[in-house]
Amino acid sequence: MPKRNLGLNTICTHEGAVKDITYGGATSPIYLSTSYEFIGKDSKRYPRYFNTPNQEFLAKKVAALEVAEAALIFSSGMSAITNVMLMALKSGDHAVVQNDIYGGTRNFIETHFKSYGIEFSFTNDLTIKSFEDCIQENTKLIYIETPSNPMLKLVDIFAIAKLGKRSGILTAIDNTFATPVIQKPIALGIDIVIHSATKYFGGHSDITAGVVAASNSTIEALWDLAKDFGGNLSDFSVWMLERSMKTLGIRVRAQQKNALKIAKFLESHPAIKKVYYPGLKTHPDHALAKLQMKGFGAMLSFELSNKYGVETFFKSLELIKPSMSLAGVESTVILPSKTSHALLSLDEREAQGITDQLIRFSVGIESKKDLIYDIKNALMHSKK
Ligand SMILES: Cc1ncc(COP(=O)(O)O)c(C=O)c1O
Repeated sequence: MPKRNLGLNTICTHEGAVKDITYGGATSPIYLSTSYEFIGKDSKRYPRYFNTPNQEFLAKKVAALEVAEAALIFSSGMSAITNVMLMALKSGDHAVVQNDIYGGTRNFIETHFKSYGIEFSFTNDLTIKSFEDCIQENTKLIYIETPSNPMLKLVDIFAIAKLGKRSGILTAIDNTFATPVIQKPIALGIDIVIHSATKYFGGHSDITAGVVAASNSTIEALWDLAKDFGGNLSDFSVWMLERSMKTLGIRVRAQQKNALKIAKFLESHPAIKKVYYPGLKTHPDHALAKLQMKGFGAMLSFELSNKYGVETFFKSLELIKPSMSLAGVESTVILPSKTSHALLSLDEREAQGITDQLIRFSVGIESKKDLIYDIKNALMHSKK
């Protein structure tokens, strides 16, 4: 790779490719071997040591995209998250965690931290003061996720990084919803970036993976734990992920272009009570979004008026799939009240704005006119 400053799509396409020195093929060969020569070699290669050729090269692509020194590839987003947490926190330590984070992460903290002797505080809201108020003498990690799921609220990344540095506390972000196409937290001073690569990095709803990008020393400490937990990704999936990431930039940019148009359409429709999308001027964090994001992402949520039936709306969609997960090239919708946030009480959900009429929309790459037609048609059929 040339050393000059390369554009995002060039990094997506070329960085981290395994050169086919045998045949000169245009794409990376896959090395599925679980056994490698060791005599006279610097590194002892083994898949669970995260150092097969495909893993090593893909980590370079991830690091380049996140402007980090190094990266590791995991078998899932949760594997990446739990490894980071248990690397950063030991018995007697405390973590400050944003209150509305991905349900699986919250569940891990609430269910397992106690048995590891780790303390935690969830913030009251997403203001910096709320994070500051939670800091204790033994706080070792500040953990954020922005934009948040499903309300698309934002946290000021630069201010969190500054707070971490001022207090000598490690900062970590789940950057899944934004991707490095839109948001580069390490450039803003955050220490560790995590992704569920099952989402936009994979982008075709057919790979489960996770990634972590950080400094060389942090990745080394993470590796030391991760190789013992054994959460590496199979090399076949690593290869698929490398291929998928070649189009990360063009996919995400097309998706967020569609999302802005759809958010504006929904905002103007009488059947919609409220639209949550940081790209709208009415969004409370619109100014912050313009400051820390390049575009506004492709996730949005909207609340259907009570005069419309959610179930009939879902059943009437012909193109957009009611489906778990998000970020594929195909548009999908879910009901957070019945899925990701089903375990919260009604009061807890409603306090966060997650009503039974709230729909989360992962906007895909389809033609926007077809997506808008599909929504209009489903709204027409779901009027009570
Ligand atoms: C924001 C976010 N982070 C992390 C995860 C966990 O990722 P995985 O399912 O790949 O373990 C998810 C999964 O939905 C997610 O939405």
